[in-house]
Order: sequence, then C-alpha cells, then structure tokens
Amino acid sequence: MKEKINTFLSEIDAFEAQNKESLEAFRIKFLGSKNITKDLFNDFKNVPNEQKKEVGQLINEIKEKAQEKFDFFQSKLNDTIVEAETKSDLTRTAFPERLGSRHPISLVRKEIIEIFSRIGFTVSEGPEIEDDWHNFSALNFPPEHPARDMQDTFFVDSEQGEIALRTHTSSVQVRVMENAKPPIRTLSPGRVYRNEAISARAHCFFHQIEGLYIDENVSFADLKQTLMYFAKEMFGEKTQIRLRPSYFPFTEPSAEMDVSCSVCEGKGCNVCKYTGFLEIMGCGMVDPNVLENCGIDSKKYSGFAFGMGIERIAMLKFKINDLRLYSEGDVRFLSQFKSVL
Ligand code: DAH
Repeated sequence: MKEKINTFLSEIDAFEAQNKESLEAFRIKFLGSKNITKDLFNDFKNVPNEQKKEVGQLINEIKEKAQEKFDFFQSKLNDTIVEAETKSDLTRTAFPERLGSRHPISLVRKEIIEIFSRIGFTVSEGPEIEDDWHNFSALNFPPEHPARDMQDTFFVDSEQGEIALRTHTSSVQVRVMENAKPPIRTLSPGRVYRNEAISARAHCFFHQIEGLYIDENVSFADLKQTLMYFAKEMFGEKTQIRLRPSYFPFTEPSAEMDVSCSVCEGKGCNVCKYTGFLEIMGCGMVDPNVLENCGIDSKKYSGFAFGMGIERIAMLKFKINDLRLYSEGDVRFLSQFKSVL
C-alpha cells in the first residue's frame, strides 16, 4: 500500500501539463469524483492498525499535492492562452474595458438641479476666480467688517488683494442680478475655496449650489414652501424641515434649514447627534441693499436665496463619513456609485 502511494506521489511530483487535455486527465485521476484516493481508502481496512495513521496522512498528501499542481498549471495555461491570443490575433475585439462611474458629487448636483428645474429654475454659472465686489462687497460685506472672517479667503494676488478664489457661489447671484431682469429663478452650482485645514469634516475646496428667486411679492412663505418641496423630493416624502434664525450679510431675515434625519426618521441617532435634525443650508430674503447694488429696484421686487453644500447632502444620502474621500480618486470608493447612475 505504501509503495503504491509513493508511486502516485512521485507521479504527481513529476507531472507537467503540456495542454488542457493532459491537465484534465490529471484532474480526473487525482481530484475527480472517482479519483484514486477513493480506492486507497477502500483498502484502508486492510492496513495494520499501527500503520493507519501514517498511511492516512500519505493519502491526504496525495490530494493536497495534486490540488496544488492542478491550480498551478491551470493558471499557467490560462496565462499562456491569453498571451497567445494577444500576440496572434490583432483583429480580435478588445477585452471589455471597465466602465467608469459618476462621481457622487455629480450625481447629487444633477439630482438637485432636476428637482428645482421641475419648478422653473434655470442654471447659471460664474467664474471661480472672483473679484471683491462679486464675492463680498455687493453682498453687503462692508470693508473690514468682521463678517468677512466667516470665510477664510485664498487671495490670488496678494498685492492686488481684491482678486480671490470665490468663497461661495453667492457671487453668481450678483452676476445674474446685474445682467438679468426679474423674474429670476436660477440655480448656480460650482466649486468654492476656503483656507481651511483639511480633515474629515473640512476641506480647502468643496461644492455649493446657490438658489435665487426674484420677482414681485416674493415672501418668506414662498421660500419655506420651495425648500419643503426640495427636502421631500430629495430625502423622501416623510421629511420634515425646520428653519432656525441665523445671520448672513446678504439676507434679511436669514435662516438655517435643518431636515429631519433620514437615518432615524427624527427619533435621534448618532448621525444627527440625537437631535433628530441635520443642518443642510443657509437661506433668507435677499437684503434690499443687495438688490440695489445689482441694479434691481428693491421697492418693486423682493426675493429669496439659499445656498447648500453638495458634499454635505451627498454625505447624508450615501452615508459618507469623510470629506477627503471625494477628492482622493480611490477607485474602491468611486466604483460604489455605479448602481445609482
Ligand atoms: N453663502 C453662504 C455660505 O457659503 C450660504 C448661503 C446662506 C447662501 C444664505 C445664500 C443664503 O444664498 O441666502 O455659507
């Protein structure tokens, strides 16, 4: 019996697969459903007791070695086939390329634009390198006023202090109002920059969407209703909103909007820090000074504006917990968003 086993073991050691057929024959003999170890185990009862342990181990060794050999030659043969095909047939169709996927920021931006376009909002864009007037002064930030500290600015040219990377997309509001006559209903998506230390919760660049609605008789009730519509479309029919008084130089009155936490449905969980609500945007009635700065008659027209961070909304929607993931380009992160195309 031992002799027989040793012959099989040397056969396995010496085996070299030349082609698929010889590998298949090897598989059937040593690993198939009727492989030779079955016969060996059938004869096992005739092995004297004191040798049983050793013989048992040798039979198992046959299986292990055969499996190793098989795996080795199988992958080797596959590689050779691929290599041969690549070299020999230059007309064959290409291997399927892995398709990319949309970035979560693009997905969320697209969804927000779709929701507002259903109620008549257009899209307008402005430059990322902006002057002081459009980023600050026209929006009612007086020179040297501490409100400018709310946004840590990157100046492009320190001698000409006025040119900077825009700190918010509110600058596009000004450009739109300077160039168009009411009624105005527009969304301005774009990238913004702030001089912040990079961490899981802050980044030196991120994305916002600004909304602006100017017409006769626009009221705070219109703002509330528009934002409620948006929240329900974005986060689900059961979503509730909450407006808290706040301060922005360019709106009066100003508010921050919270939505009920979609993870716990407002009951309280660690995502909403047990408050049941999450802050998603700033908003308010456009300050009459801002309307006048942009050449719009504030006695005739009123309007509301709002601004939200796209990263923040995507974090809530996809349960992403680190802002840095958005800009690292890691395919393991990015490829997860395929299914939501
Ligand atoms: N620009 C503000 C920011 O970046 C967000 C904002 C607040 C925009 C209120 C608005 C608004 O249009 O009305 O923090």
